[in-house]
Amino acid sequence: MKNDTRIVHAGSHPEAHGGAVNPPVYHVSTVTYPTVGAMKAGEKTPYDGMRYGRFGTPTSFALEEAVCELEGGFRTVSTASGLAAITGTLSALLQAGDHLLMVDSVYHPTRRFCQEHLKRYGVETTFYDPLIGAGIARLMRPETRVVFVESPGSLTFEVQDIPAIAAVAHAHGAKVVLDNTWATPLFFRPFEKGVDISIQAATKFIVGHSDAMLGTITCADSDLWMRVKSSVATSGVCAGAEEVYLGLRGLRTLSVRLRQHQESGLLLADWLKARPEVARVMHPALADDPGHPLWRRDFSGACGLFGLELIPGYTSQAVDRFLDGLQYFSLGYSWGGYESLIIPTSGNIQRSACPWTAAGPTLRIHTGLEDPQDLIADLAAGFERLNNL
Ligand SMILES: Cc1ncc(COP(=O)(O)O)c(C=O)c1O
Repeated sequence: MKNDTRIVHAGSHPEAHGGAVNPPVYHVSTVTYPTVGAMKAGEKTPYDGMRYGRFGTPTSFALEEAVCELEGGFRTVSTASGLAAITGTLSALLQAGDHLLMVDSVYHPTRRFCQEHLKRYGVETTFYDPLIGAGIARLMRPETRVVFVESPGSLTFEVQDIPAIAAVAHAHGAKVVLDNTWATPLFFRPFEKGVDISIQAATKFIVGHSDAMLGTITCADSDLWMRVKSSVATSGVCAGAEEVYLGLRGLRTLSVRLRQHQESGLLLADWLKARPEVARVMHPALADDPGHPLWRRDFSGACGLFGLELIPGYTSQAVDRFLDGLQYFSLGYSWGGYESLIIPTSGNIQRSACPWTAAGPTLRIHTGLEDPQDLIADLAAGFERLNNL
């Protein structure tokens, strides 16, 4: 089955819902049982079937089944947000005395969770260079339990050599956890590349319409799934009823939306590269990007999220002028929706393992589904304001 077919049919069981194409939104807290015997029987398998609203409903099971099939894992857990998927996974796998290797280019709230939260619970984090590859061996310790990867980094877009990192991690008995949001469940096959747990901030491309917070955690085997599921159920960060419905609804059109995000994103990236105001474009699908060889080896596509560095010399007021007057690009911290977004990233890029430097101001673009020629015209007018013409 090809991905376009899988995305339409995965987790779809109309026969279970009176023939309705989409499963209804189950609004559930309490689940009642006909007898004490039935109640007690359910205690043996608390996470199968409907037991309590927090543990799952037919709507969340349908989303989880579909995402799991697309990612190619054993089973998926849905969560209240992408960040809840990350923190729920790390909480499930780590305990006091453990060591975590975290990529230095990671999404900033993940960094903060390690530095503030995990530290208080006795878990030590070492940040590592995203380009380390098999060199991660020198950072492994007997107590290293997890190596966390995010590829490409969502502000600086370095591509990681995940198979090389996974081989080392597994040789040392550690698990590999991936934030796979940029690639979506379509463009990177995590479990074929050595990943043990793949996370989606489903808030982005899976929901796709900027109107719900949602996360998914897909696990390679039943043991990992049980650890993650019980951690998420115990900490109470389950996904809401409407959110899982919106995630499932968005998922069905993910591949057609992504084709447009990808095509328009590349058009914009190429156009920007040729502009005199632009020093570099950070987009691994561009042939001259440093991450391109790994991207070509391991990925089957790109979303429309990429970075940009302007040539040095522009004041922050000039960059604000460029951004404030944009007509179609909104200023917003997220990505993955149908609308184009842009953010200034200078000053937001934090590193502790290896320096990341840019001589000029940096920006991040999420290419939406507008006509790309309108987006280019919008950016061209922005450059005129930048140059104060
Ligand atoms: C790479 C990455 N991972 C995770 C998240 C967190 O997702 P959420 O906003 O759903 O918590 C984000 C959000 O921007 C992100 O960019």
